[in-house]
Amino acid sequence: MKDSHGRTIDYLRISLTDRCNLRCIYCMPEEGVDQMSHEDILRIEEIEEAVAVAAQMGITRVRLTGGEPLVRKGVVDLIRSIKNTPGIEHIAMTTNGVLLPRMADELKEAGLSRVNISLDTLDPDQFAMITRRGKLEDTLAGIEAALAVGFDPVKINAVAVRSLNQDYLAFAKLSIDRELHVRFIEYMPVGESSGGTGCGWGKEDVVPSEELIEIIDRQARAEGIGGLIPAGGSRPEGWGPARYYAFEGARGTVGFISPLSRHFCSECNRLRLTADGKLRPCLFSDVEFDLRPALRAGDFDGAKAVFAEALGAKPDDHHDKVGTERGMSQIGG
Ligand code: GTP
Ligand code: 5AD
Ligand code: SF4
Repeated sequence: MKDSHGRTIDYLRISLTDRCNLRCIYCMPEEGVDQMSHEDILRIEEIEEAVAVAAQMGITRVRLTGGEPLVRKGVVDLIRSIKNTPGIEHIAMTTNGVLLPRMADELKEAGLSRVNISLDTLDPDQFAMITRRGKLEDTLAGIEAALAVGFDPVKINAVAVRSLNQDYLAFAKLSIDRELHVRFIEYMPVGESSGGTGCGWGKEDVVPSEELIEIIDRQARAEGIGGLIPAGGSRPEGWGPARYYAFEGARGTVGFISPLSRHFCSECNRLRLTADGKLRPCLFSDVEFDLRPALRAGDFDGAKAVFAEALGAKPDDHHDKVGTERGMSQIGG
């Protein structure tokens, strides 16, 4: 389907839950989010119905997000059913990886194609500080499990935050020996307008991608690895909004997602569905379109009309807005 700015929209991001087994300081307060009530959350059958409608409207790819999608009961069966929906070609997931050692096999068998794993630091103490209740070794084991079952590609999402002083080169080097695609994401200070999570990070913590590229390139040359080379040629399926580079001879790539310094809105291909059944035209939307009543009533045509409305409301660009009244964990990033 095309939106009113001529972009092809073929990608739906579905947040399965606002709950999470971690409590990253930039995403949630210590006590967790004000959880949506059980009644508000779309049932698995309703999500299946939403995907069937979306597929009829031209969606071919689905990404499952959270909170943490793997804490949602029934996720494996849901993947199997989405996989069997005519028109859906790929199913991806963005996860913190903690449950992958336990679940990767069944997820792969059910038809999950690829995973993005969130990991913001390689320092165990800093990891514990950021996630409040996570252990670095668990997420690293999740990455290993993802590689072992053959998800392709396996991407690592690292949000760059100036006051964390992350070792960017160490992250980038993960792409050398393994087929890992490391992506640095500019921190979006979204919490500022949604009440905040109290992590204390703000605009001054945004590290523009150009600066990251320059640092990694310089440090890599100094170590004798050689600089970052723009990755040319055709990119495999599912490469989203990042710009990609690679070290010479590396098996993976290093990508940069720049929602602040370089808007990718003109290439936007997506709609979002929240766990409580609202379609969001943009990550930063103020408007949402409630799909739940039509889904709950089994009204296929009504649901199609809500999709069409959300599509029509897709903005051309988020301009300078990086906030929403909902937190990231409720939208799914
Ligand atoms: P693939 O392209 O399929 O790998 O997905 P992705 O990179 O879009 O998904 P992922 O969930 O890994 O998100 C990576 C980062 O990009 C997160 O910080 C998201 O919040 C951000 N992101 C994804 N979509 C958008 C978008 O439409 N607008 C903005 N500003 N940021 C986005
Ligand atoms: N800015 C940038 N990325 C964020 N994510 C969550 N909150 C933010 C933010 N404020 C990332 C997560 C995850 C992805 C879905 O979004 O780390 O990888
Ligand atoms: Fe959970 Fe992801 Fe939010 Fe961390 S950023 S608390 S892993 S949803």
